[in-house]
Amino acid sequence: MKVVVTGAAGFVGGHVAEALARAGHAVLAVDAPARSLTPPRAEAAFAALGGVPGVVLRRLDLAEDTLEPLADADAVVHLAGRPGVRTSWGAGRALVFRDNVEATRRLLEACRENRPKVIVASSSSVYGAARRKPSRETDALAPASPYAESKVEVERLAAKAAADGVGVAVLRYFSVYGPRQRPDMAFHRFIEAALDGRPLPLFGDGRQLRSFTHVRDVVAATVAAVERDLPVGATVNVGGGEPVAVRDAIALIADLAGVPATVREQPPVAGDVPRTWADTGRAADLLGWRPTVPLGAGLAEQIAWHRSER
Ligand SMILES: NC(=O)c1ccc[n+]([C@@H]2O[C@H](COP(=O)([O-])OP(=O)(O)OC[C@H]3O[C@@H](n4cnc5c(N)ncnc54)[C@H](O)[C@@H]3O)[C@@H](O)[C@H]2O)c1
Repeated sequence: MKVVVTGAAGFVGGHVAEALARAGHAVLAVDAPARSLTPPRAEAAFAALGGVPGVVLRRLDLAEDTLEPLADADAVVHLAGRPGVRTSWGAGRALVFRDNVEATRRLLEACRENRPKVIVASSSSVYGAARRKPSRETDALAPASPYAESKVEVERLAAKAAADGVGVAVLRYFSVYGPRQRPDMAFHRFIEAALDGRPLPLFGDGRQLRSFTHVRDVVAATVAAVERDLPVGATVNVGGGEPVAVRDAIALIADLAGVPATVREQPPVAGDVPRTWADTGRAADLLGWRPTVPLGAGLAEQIAWHRSER
């Protein structure tokens, strides 16, 4: 298949593009020109991706450039966006709506004629402070930050395109971690601090629970979504199952890195929900997928990656 992967210079997109190419697909790896992003990200990772057989790189700002290069794709995996709850407040809101909502609106519009299959990345944050535990795809949404609101809007656009006959499916990712994780994400910051011998910078009291999901599991679910027949408009949780408290993850990181688990507490982030917990029943039914990487093994792998980058 010819598969376009957007956000391919990013954390999840880089892994997904590489896996699809290694599975024999022809991958057009798309990311924004450095000019349209502040700060420019992951240049080196994108350049390295260009060396993988089967991958062609393409610079496109989905929020403003012509999207003709998507026209003859069999599938589009749309992972481009501006993630993160913390940076979505204040001036960040407009950027989040540009790169999440407007970019997705234009991408889905560009897919109306040729109708490739489209897989769209959403987030566990759409559930907000969810009442049901674990969260099912049919639960009411309660976005608690501009980022989460933008993903609810992305999902609404996907549902509209599905109703118009575009073969869209939405994957709700839960706290992804592993090698090449974004520098603003908790495990990345914790591991860097641990390896520097600094206290680990913790937002809130660390009692937040998360269905942490290793990027290899996220890749497996995403590749399955590309390759399997899915009901048009399906929404599927992609989450690591049993949630773990951030404090317990910190203890694991400290133990694995061989440092004391000293933290520097910072005020909680507005919109940072107390708990995410994925019900993965639908992912098992539709994608034949369940999470496989235990947190300890996944963190050991991420720590090894940080060490190798030093
Ligand atoms: N990482 C997670 O834990 C997580 C959890 C839930 C959902 N998600 C979603 O998964 C997707 C990938 O997340 P990630 O962690 O890899 O993020 P990332 O920031 O590492 O990657 C996103 C990429 O999108 C690109 N991009 C942004 N705006 C663009 C535009 N207008 N045109 C073209 N490219 C653009 C960026 O340059 C970046 O390389 C995002 O949609 C994110 O919201 C991620």
